Amino acid sequence: MHLAIIMDGNGRWAKQRGFPRTKGHQKGVEVVREITTYCAKNPEIEILTLYAFSTENWKRPKSEVKFLMKLLDKYLQKELKTYIQNDIKFEVIGDISKFSPSLQKRILTTKEATKNNKSLTQVLALNYGSKDEITRAVKKVVQKKEKITPENIQKNLDMPKDVDLLIRTSGEMRVSNFLLWQIAYAEMFFTKTLWPDFTSEELDKILKEFKKRERRFGGI
Ligand code: IPE
Ligand code: IPE
Ligand code: MG
Repeated sequence: MHLAIIMDGNGRWAKQRGFPRTKGHQKGVEVVREITTYCAKNPEIEILTLYAFSTENWKRPKSEVKFLMKLLDKYLQKELKTYIQNDIKFEVIGDISKFSPSLQKRILTTKEATKNNKSLTQVLALNYGSKDEITRAVKKVVQKKEKITPENIQKNLDMPKDVDLLIRTSGEMRVSNFLLWQIAYAEMFFTKTLWPDFTSEELDKILKEFKKRERRFGGI
């Protein structure tokens, strides 16, 4: 199955503790590691897509954006070990051409180093926005002179696989431009837990709930 998560609430987590927002992002990275290794060990999960930076997140103060870019670079450098030890393939969706050349290089080398791994594909959504993704996909369809059909549009998306389960942390009940096409028939879960407090135990509970849901896809 394809699990997608909107990791939200890092700033509020830090604020509640009197820390700067950056502290919440640092704690958030540790949760990414825990959830990713859990998913690699769970044979039911094939793809884990994590919303890490949206096309709208550039609106944040320059200092926070800069911190997040640096954190991502450090994360990839440090986690290469985790990807290799846990047989995880790393992929990216979104337009990374807006990132610094060194960060782009780090992303490409991490992808290359993990491309044959099989237990899980971890996809980071980086400078990702669904409207941007769909627009780019339609452009590709037109450029390749393919017929404009739902199948051809989907094939040309950064993420061509439909989402089965979407989780958003922090209590917000919105999708914030994440995988709009791919969640057409996804089951959705919203938890009040802030991302830095999210655990594999809570994910396990949500997965049990998910299994009880009856998915009809428009049928009866
Ligand atoms: C999610 O946490 C992480 C990113 C969007 C990078 P936030 O930074 O949005 O935290 P809140 O929502 O302000 O608490
Ligand atoms: C969505 O969270 C983006 C990521 C988790 C990367 P935001 O915190 O940016 O979303 P809004 O602004 O609350 O909708
Ligand atoms: Mg937020």
